[in-house]
Formats: sequence, structure tokens, C-alpha cells
Amino acid sequence: MTLPPPHTMRAIAITEPGGPEVLKAVEVTVPVPKHGEILIRVAYAGVNRPDALQRAGQYAPPPTASPLPGLEAAGWVAAVGPGVTRWQPGDRVTALLPGGGYAEYAITPEDHALPVPEGIDLREAACLPETCFTVWSNVMLRGGLRAGERFLVHGGSSGIGTTAIQMARALGARVFATAGSAEKCAACEALGAERAINYREEDFVSILKAEGGAHVILDMVGGDYIPRNIKALADEGRLVQIAFLQGAKVELNFAEVMMRRLTLTGSTLRPQSDLAKARYARHLLKHVWPMVERGTLRPVMDSEFALEDAAEAHRRIESSGHIGKIVLKVA
Ligand SMILES: NC(=O)c1ccc[n+]([C@@H]2O[C@H](COP(=O)([O-])OP(=O)(O)OC[C@H]3O[C@@H](n4cnc5c(N)ncnc54)[C@H](OP(=O)(O)O)[C@@H]3O)[C@@H](O)[C@H]2O)c1
Repeated sequence: MTLPPPHTMRAIAITEPGGPEVLKAVEVTVPVPKHGEILIRVAYAGVNRPDALQRAGQYAPPPTASPLPGLEAAGWVAAVGPGVTRWQPGDRVTALLPGGGYAEYAITPEDHALPVPEGIDLREAACLPETCFTVWSNVMLRGGLRAGERFLVHGGSSGIGTTAIQMARALGARVFATAGSAEKCAACEALGAERAINYREEDFVSILKAEGGAHVILDMVGGDYIPRNIKALADEGRLVQIAFLQGAKVELNFAEVMMRRLTLTGSTLRPQSDLAKARYARHLLKHVWPMVERGTLRPVMDSEFALEDAAEAHRRIESSGHIGKIVLKVA
């Protein structure tokens, strides 16, 4: 039997914009699901780089979202709002959240939740949504990656990168990845990259050009990587930008874009409509969850922290010492 949710819960709040120390444990009211929404009792919450940007005051949540950090979680449905048809209390789910994952209970639209894939636990399941929604929508839908094409992902050892390597490989692409150490490069190759490039020692442009160029590049670095990415693309190649760790402004000669018929695109997941995210969720259920169940795509787990130690989790993600995903244990 599923107990009704309590009135208050433990959560981690951003008390003011700043460093990890501004994350503080608080007691807040449990949210009530509105029409079409479910309330999830959170077992584990995934930690993502955008949470650190939000904490620093550089990535504001949408006006209707919880101000608490946390973009993904796995657990049990605790209550359903009016009109919910897909779920009932007690169901095990993993979900993309508009915010609020660093808490004992979190709200999301019912069609942003997915069943926990067979063969993985709630801890791993909590680490799937943010990276799978982001990689699928950017690499497959925007970038149009096809089997046999060459795919380059920067930050190959990140949460996003480790997912992108496995997903692209499972779809039959030839995968190249960049990373900042020999250990990270070895991890990328163990996940299925045919060539990992230590960007501190090697030039990804010449390596990709020697292969004929990348058909799709997924980039989170930006800055001087933007003109270099353009050089590393094959004719008709697609550059998909999902972040700018080294800045978003750069001087570019667009003649190459025209002469070699390149596509420059990108997106950020959080501000997209509920309908768009529901569409991505349907794609994941159909195309990506079977990869997880076959074992060809697994979240790479770096470390686990207690909910109260969210500040430590942020220090870890911002140190870039991690490989794969960081998770908070909540229940
Ligand atoms: N557009 C979207 O919808 C969306 C959604 C989710 C995440 N993102 C973005 O995607 C990126 C990856 O997210 P994540 O959660 O997987 O984060 P993450 O695990 O912290 O990945 C960031 C990685 O980027 C590499 N990196 C390269 N240049 C860097 C630099 N100048 N400063 C810091 N790190 C640098 C680091 O590895 P090395 O040691 O190899 O440098 C680091 O591990 C983040 O930038 C995030 O904001 C975008």
C-alpha cells in the first residue's frame, strides 16, 4: 500500500547565487500535482552541470518550475493529479523534471516520466533522463546522425559524453571523443569510441580530417572550438552546440559553411515546451530504452552523495575530475 505524501519534506535550496556553499538543507511544503502531473517520491536524483549553472545564477529556471535544483530523478509515483492516465501510486518511474529534484518529492508532467528499464536499479535510472533527452534530441533529431557516419563528441567523459558515445555506437555510427586525460580517454574507448583524443596533447581537427571529417559534432565547449569544429566537419556536416564552457562569442568566416554546405545548430532542453519533451520521451521509450535493456547503453556511475551533501556533489562536478554521472541518494 502506498502511503499518502506528508505535508513537508527535506530539500536542498539555492539560498543565493554563488558557490556550492549556498546549497542548504531546508524543510519545505510537499508540492501538489496539478492536472496531468504526477508527484514522485524521489529515491535518487541525478546531478548535472546545468544545476551548478543555476546555483551560480547563470541558468534561471522557467517561471513555472520549482526554484529548487534538480532536473532528473527516479523513484515511486506518490500521487497523481486530475486527468493522469498513465501512472498510479506505487509505479517505479524515472523522469525529466522542470526542477526540484533535490528533494524528497518532485512534480513533473505525466508524459515526462518513463518506466524504469528492465535490468537497472533506481540509482542508475535516475541518471538517464537529462542526458538521454539531451543527446537524443540534439544528436539524432537535430544532427540527423545515421549509421556508418563519423560522430565526434567533445567532453566524452562527461555525463552527456558517456551517453552520447554509447547511443551513437548503438546506432551504428563511428564514434570519436575528446577528453582531458589519458584515464578519461581510456574510459571513452571502453564505452565504444574507436578513437579518444586527449585534447591537451593532440589536435582533434587533424585527426578527424584524416578520417574524412565528422558528419556530426556534439559540442559543449564553444569558444575557439567553434572555428575548429567547422574545419573538422565533413562536407554537409552538422555542428550541434549544447553549451559554451569556453564562451559563446567568436569571429567566424561563414564562407566555409556555405561552400561545404554545413549546418550549425543547437538547443537547450529546459525551456522547450512540455509537448516537445513528451515527444522526446516517446522516442526514448521506443529507441533508447531497448538499448538500456540490452545492456548497450548504461549510465556510467562516478559517485554517490547523500542529499544533504549536495554541495560536495557540486564541488565534484565542477572539479571535472569525474567520469560519468554523479547521483544524490534521497530515500
Ligand atoms: N543544451 C542542453 O540542453 C544541455 C543539457 C544538459 C547538459 N548540457 C551541457 O552539457 C555539458 C555537459 O553536461 P554534464 O552534466 O554531462 O557535465 P559534466 O559531466 O560536468 O561535463 C563537463 C565536461 O566538459 C569537459 N570540459 C571541456 N572543456 C571544459 C571547460 N572549459 N571547463 C570545464 N569543463 C570542460 C570536462 O571534461 P575534460 O576533463 O575532458 O575537460 C567536463 O567533465 C555541460 O556544459 C552542460 O551545461 C546542456
